[in-house]
Amino acid sequence: MDNIIDGKAFAANLRAEVAAKVATLKSQHSIVPGLAVVLVGEDPASQVYVRNKGKQTVETGMQSFEHKLPDTTSQDELMSLIDTLNADDSVHGILVQLPLPKQIQEAAVINHISPEKDVDGFHLSNVGRLAIGEPGIVPCTPLGCIMMLRDALGDLSGMHAVVVGRSNIVGKPMASLLLQENCTVEITHSRTRNLQEECLRADILVAAVGRPEMIKGDWVKPGAAVIDVGINRIEAEDGKTRLVGDVEFSSAAKVAGKITPVPGGVGPMTIACLLHNTLQQACKINNVEVPA
Ligand code: GUN
Repeated sequence: MDNIIDGKAFAANLRAEVAAKVATLKSQHSIVPGLAVVLVGEDPASQVYVRNKGKQTVETGMQSFEHKLPDTTSQDELMSLIDTLNADDSVHGILVQLPLPKQIQEAAVINHISPEKDVDGFHLSNVGRLAIGEPGIVPCTPLGCIMMLRDALGDLSGMHAVVVGRSNIVGKPMASLLLQENCTVEITHSRTRNLQEECLRADILVAAVGRPEMIKGDWVKPGAAVIDVGINRIEAEDGKTRLVGDVEFSSAAKVAGKITPVPGGVGPMTIACLLHNTLQQACKINNVEVPA
């Protein structure tokens, strides 16, 4: 089907672009971008994400610093590691993998990261910048979605965009970015009345609710672009587990003009955008132009 947006290929291209710029930065300015990833505890999904981030960071020619701390780490101990990373000139990006254990306040930790090194774009200063349209660091998943939408549709001006989900990590920043692209933006959520009717208005439908296959083909306006941010593990009939999005792909793909699959859609773009953000910040912190 030619309406499928191949996120895996798109992410591979972006990583190759980042790698080429990292090589130029190294040869022209002797700067090697560095990304520090902090994992507290043993959450299995987080361990997989952190391993993939480290691997792709190295493959792109950057330095990867992994800090694995026990589940019992106190907030003070984590804060003092962040102080060290904030002060380390070889570190240009700091990512604290979420969720954190209960004894640690997530917001306090995130806001302790230097805003210039907050490559997740979760620091209040970056959240505020995005909200008022000032340059800052944009959260990776919504940034990846916008890159794919621009590539698939070109100018997004005037389009009616419906975002399903209002999380701080995806829904809210996604809405801000779509607004910057001059879309008419509607944010919907679990309390929205007649959600199907609202979704049917969308030229761009972004699903980020975390409910497996909630959005069906008859919720999609013919020709609309559908971006599925969901990653849900469900048990299939054969007893095996299967990854599905928030959109029922089989029915939605028959109606949509463009659609991202799960897996292989938005997912691979998140880490590629993290590497992109790290390169941008390495240049900014060192006061050099990002290589062309
Ligand atoms: N846990 C799940 N997604 C993310 C993310 O994008 N950033 C961080 N830091 N933790 C996460």
